[in-house]
Amino acid sequence: MARPTYRIACLPGDGIGPEVTRGAVTVLEAAAAAYGFALEFSAHPVGGAAYDAAGTPFPDETREACDAADAILFGAVGGPQYDGLPWEHRPEAALLAIRKRYDLYANLRPILLYPPLRDASPLKNEIIGGGVDFIIVRELVGGIYFGEPRGITTLEDGTRRGVNTEVYTDAEIARIARMGFTIARGRRRKVTSVDKANVMEAGRLWRTVVDEVAREFPDVEVEHLLADNAAMQILRRPGDFDVMLASNLFGDFLSDEAAMLTGSIGLLPSASLGAAQNRLGLPKGFYEPIHGSAPDIAGRDLANPLAAILCGAMLLRHSLGQEEAALAVERAVARVLEEGFRTGDIKVPGTAVLGTAAMAAEVARRIG
Ligand code: IPM
Ligand code: MG
Repeated sequence: MARPTYRIACLPGDGIGPEVTRGAVTVLEAAAAAYGFALEFSAHPVGGAAYDAAGTPFPDETREACDAADAILFGAVGGPQYDGLPWEHRPEAALLAIRKRYDLYANLRPILLYPPLRDASPLKNEIIGGGVDFIIVRELVGGIYFGEPRGITTLEDGTRRGVNTEVYTDAEIARIARMGFTIARGRRRKVTSVDKANVMEAGRLWRTVVDEVAREFPDVEVEHLLADNAAMQILRRPGDFDVMLASNLFGDFLSDEAAMLTGSIGLLPSASLGAAQNRLGLPKGFYEPIHGSAPDIAGRDLANPLAAILCGAMLLRHSLGQEEAALAVERAVARVLEEGFRTGDIKVPGTAVLGTAAMAAEVARRIG
C-alpha cells in the first residue's frame, strides 16, 4: 500500500519563527520516516516578512496554500518595526485573519510541567511539586478581539475615543464549552470556567451557557472562577486544574501566566481547531507556539524549538490522526529534558545548553 502523504503549509513568519519551525520540520520528518507516512511541506510568507515582500501580512499565495493544506504549521509574527503600521498591515492581522477564515474557534493550550524542569520554574517546589498538567481551552474567534463596534474615532470636541466590544452569543459559548467538556472526559473530568460575571453581561451569559452545557456532561465536575481570581489560583493551586475554559481575552492572559509554571513559554504549543475539515475528514488545524517572535534573539540559534516541536506532535494527533507518532515526539521531548539537554531559557547549572538546531536534532534522534 502506498504511504499516505499529508500536505503541511509552513508559515514561518518573523523573528525566531523560521528557526523554530525548521526544528519542528526536522522532528516531523523523523516521525514520518519512523511511522510510515510522508509529509509534503511548503513554505509561505506571513506577517511582517510577507508585508516586506508583498505589502500585505497575509498574501493570496499564502491563503491559497493554507486552503489546500491538511494542516498549517505556524512560527511567529511581529516585530517593533511594524508597530506603527495601520491594523490591516500589521503582522498580527494575518494571525487573526487565519483564525477567522477557518473558524478556528477552539485554541488548545496544554500547560504541562516536565518533572526535570521543576527548577526552571520560578515557582516554589511546594506549589508545583505535585505536578502541573492542565489545558487551557480558549475561545479564539469571538469576544473582544472581533466584537463590533471597534475603532478609534475623534469626537466633535476633538476628544479621541478608542472602542472595543466584548460580545458573545449563546451558540459561540456553547460550542467552546462543549469542546472543553469533551476534552475533560478524556482527562480528569473537571472544567474550570473563567469569566467576569460580576461586572460583564457577556460574562454572565458565559456562565449561564456553561452551566447549561454542563448538564450534558453530568460526569464532569464544573467550577466557575472570576478571571482575576483565576489568575491568582493558577499560582496558588496549579495542580488542581484539568481543563480551564476561557474567552478569547482571558485565555490570552491566563496562558502567558500559566506558561511560567512550566519554566518557559518556549515550551508551550497550541492547536487551533474548528469546524473546517481536511482531506482526511479531520480538523484542518492551525499549530502555533504560544511564544512570540522574540526579535531580540532572532536568527542567533538561541531560541527554544520545543514549543514548535510539540506543535508538531499536536498536528500529528489532531489533523493527521497519527497518534503513535505524536506520542513518540512527546516522549522524545521528555527524554531529551530528562537527559539534561537545555536551551538558554531553561538552563540550570550542570545542564548542557544547546542551540535551536542542535536541540531539534537531539529530539529527532530519539524518535522511533
Ligand atoms: C497569542 C498572541 C496573539 C493573541 C497575538 C499575537 C495577536 O498573543 O496567540 O496568544 O493575542 O491572540
Ligand atoms: Mg498571547
